[in-house]
Amino acid sequence: MNSPIRRIAICTGGGDAPGLNAVIRAVTIAAIRRGWECLGIRDGFNGILFPERYPQGGVIRLTRDTVRGIAHLGGTILGTTNKGDPFHCPTQLPDGSMGVVDRSPELIEYFSKHAIDALVSIGGDGSLTIANTLHQMGLRVVGVPKTIDNDLDKTMTTFGFDTAVSFATDCLDRLHSTAQSHQRVMVVEVMGRYAGWIALHSGIAGNAHGILIPEIPFDLDQLAKHIQTRDAYGQTYSIVVVGEGAKPCDGHTQVLEQNEAGHAERLGGLGELVARGLQARTGKDTRVVVLGHLLRGGSPTAFDRLAALRFGAAAVRALEDGQSGVMVALAFPNVIYVPLSEVAGRMKAVPLDGDTLQTARDLGICLGD
Ligand code: F6P
Repeated sequence: MNSPIRRIAICTGGGDAPGLNAVIRAVTIAAIRRGWECLGIRDGFNGILFPERYPQGGVIRLTRDTVRGIAHLGGTILGTTNKGDPFHCPTQLPDGSMGVVDRSPELIEYFSKHAIDALVSIGGDGSLTIANTLHQMGLRVVGVPKTIDNDLDKTMTTFGFDTAVSFATDCLDRLHSTAQSHQRVMVVEVMGRYAGWIALHSGIAGNAHGILIPEIPFDLDQLAKHIQTRDAYGQTYSIVVVGEGAKPCDGHTQVLEQNEAGHAERLGGLGELVARGLQARTGKDTRVVVLGHLLRGGSPTAFDRLAALRFGAAAVRALEDGQSGVMVALAFPNVIYVPLSEVAGRMKAVPLDGDTLQTARDLGICLGD
């Protein structure tokens, strides 16, 4: 594990998040400055597992030129996939049927055959769980926490979250005037999976009147009452932010697509349901806006860009120091290292006793309970 490093590889897995390119730039430059060679794997691990899909090469050499001028760009120059779990690879079996195969040994073999000493894995819960298992199999690995959802444990924040919240807040600011002009209820559905971070933070910052998050099962009657009370004192419009993973006290999460091998279930559709429910209860004209993947696109905010650059540089320092099986994390004002085993498979939900949630209540925002 502690042999000197000469060559490392980077991969980006799961949904893209603003800041990925900044991490790639920081890792590449910090590695080159140490005399290491830096490689980039295309589309998670697909560049290694499916080389036939990449006529230009599934693994590319990253140079100063490759990473010049990319820190402010959204997406990832390496590409990514959220169907790329090497431990559960949908594969055609010799008898022609489809099966799920563990192809991780091929990854380990590739690293050894090409003298790649370590992997920097940039991803969310799924990718970091994979990274942790690869570490347990003997690969030298450092993880970097990415997700707009901010649902990774052991780090104050993930890069991508601030950009998503800033964009959602801007959208909410814009919706106030149109909602007010038409005396409407506007329901805004935001991503976040089973955590309400994006909904809560953007909802408070964007002056929403109602916020529904997965951590608090909601009662639509309560929210409708809140809207009617606002009407009664002359505030004849309302903005409601809905986290996609929220669910009614007597119902379930809205799932668009069931999970399958190597791919998590896809959420969505709650905004429409809430809008219909509110219109029926209040009689008010109601519209839905689904922000969806707009939250993931565009340039990272300065906060996310800086966090991503710091994470990338810190990942290289960790490898230089002989660390493996760790994730870089923000423990403001410092970047620290935490064991991947303490992050893998865990989710950071919005704490019900936290001051942010309390702030929403103190501001009179209805949380549906
Ligand atoms: O985890 C990031 C995220 O954007 C979630 O907020 C959302 O539920 C999911 O990914 C969407 O995934 P896809 O890109 O497969 O639609």
